[in-house]
Amino acid sequence: MPTPGRQMHLGVFVLGTGNHIAGWRYPGAAQSFEDLAVVQQIARIAERGKYDLIFIGDNLASEPGMHPSYAARFEPLTKLAALAATTTHVGLGATASTTYNEPYNVARAFASLDHLSGGRAAWNAVTSSGGLAAENFGRIHPEHDARYEIAEEFVDVVRGLWDCWDDGAVVRDHATGQYIDPAKVRPLHHQGRFFKVRGPLSTSRTPQGQPIILQAGSSGPGLALAARTADVVFAVVQDLDEAKDGYAALKSRMPGFGRHPDEIAVLPGVMPVIGRTDAEAREKLNTLQGFVNSDNARSMLASRLGIDVAGFPPDDLVPDLPLPDSSHGFARAMLAKARRERMTWRDMFNLAGAARGHWVICGTPEAVADTLQQWFEARACDGFNILPAYFPGAFDDFVDMVVPILQERGLFRQDYAGTTLREHLGLARPPSRLFAP
Ligand SMILES: Cc1cc2nc3c(=O)[nH]c(=O)nc-3n(C[C@H](O)[C@H](O)[C@H](O)COP(=O)(O)O)c2cc1C
Repeated sequence: MPTPGRQMHLGVFVLGTGNHIAGWRYPGAAQSFEDLAVVQQIARIAERGKYDLIFIGDNLASEPGMHPSYAARFEPLTKLAALAATTTHVGLGATASTTYNEPYNVARAFASLDHLSGGRAAWNAVTSSGGLAAENFGRIHPEHDARYEIAEEFVDVVRGLWDCWDDGAVVRDHATGQYIDPAKVRPLHHQGRFFKVRGPLSTSRTPQGQPIILQAGSSGPGLALAARTADVVFAVVQDLDEAKDGYAALKSRMPGFGRHPDEIAVLPGVMPVIGRTDAEAREKLNTLQGFVNSDNARSMLASRLGIDVAGFPPDDLVPDLPLPDSSHGFARAMLAKARRERMTWRDMFNLAGAARGHWVICGTPEAVADTLQQWFEARACDGFNILPAYFPGAFDDFVDMVVPILQERGLFRQDYAGTTLREHLGLARPPSRLFAP
């Protein structure tokens, strides 16, 4: 049943060369993820579309065969700091790993971005699925569930550090010469299984109180971490019923952590390929798929399934496979689709090449809007993380053709009602828990 007044939240997954693995080969497409002008243009389009947030992922390793925007990219917070200066409303989300960082550095970086952007920062807390990163840190990659045990404590320390400063701590009293009121700054004195952090942070309380926390894991431990700490969850979906089950599973865990289910916005990733007619949309998708270089697609599929897929005969059916240590969410959704649709390895390469395992929809603006509305009203999600196949054209298509339909139907905001990401998401600004009476 539609809830009157309930509206979608929209994010955009930013990869300069497009979300499609070969999107950069599409005529007119941006060619680089290392070009500030490209992401500035994407952010401008997002604000024109009244988007909640733009999202920039990250990994800590590179290989030439990867998705081009994985292989050659900037450190995301540096890029978002630049975007903070050229945008006014859109939320700015980036990934930082809980396995290959220190909480103090992460807390400080996102607190700084929240100040720089006037309350628009969001941290995607990921456990880092690929073991390749370990080799850049001289470490052994912890196994899946151990990574989440570290992440649970990591997120608590980051949030604790954000709470070390109360509002109004910076007094700048010219008469007394007092700059900071020491009664409003406290150390954290955290000592846990993995981290020992004194605090306080060297950045004062931020405009949002706490920057927004994004999460994208959908294994058991991933859902538990999200239910306890996340504000926005990126889901991997391929099927409406599965998405509804995943949504209900996450939301039903929240009361156990003293949270209301509306305190998380679940945004599945979707690549909309839009044409004036259904045939035109199909042709666009076929053109994109024709650009897929099988090495890239194989490397992406191997990372999603956690196995070497090089020797598999393209016409063989995909068998049932165990979920990999790297990431449960993608493998589960892709393997379930393979089972349902009796997919071959060739189909699987194409799926990985298109949207990296995310859902692809293809059609006219009305048909795309209808599908998104159906999923939203069926409580499979609270909005979408849109994955344009290439930039800027495929993002322009969505913002100029689909967003107006969603707005006309009352499913999406006509304009921003606030300036912070928390306000866009309808979330209250939390008081510091260290100073709670
Ligand atoms: C939309 C989306 C974005 C993600 N972005 C990143 C990322 O930037 N870096 C990363 O290491 N993992 C990223 N991941 C992976 C997950 O955050 C998660 O760590 C991984 O899927 C393992 O979780 P699971 O086994 O609980 O599903 C992303 C996943 C999704 C669905």
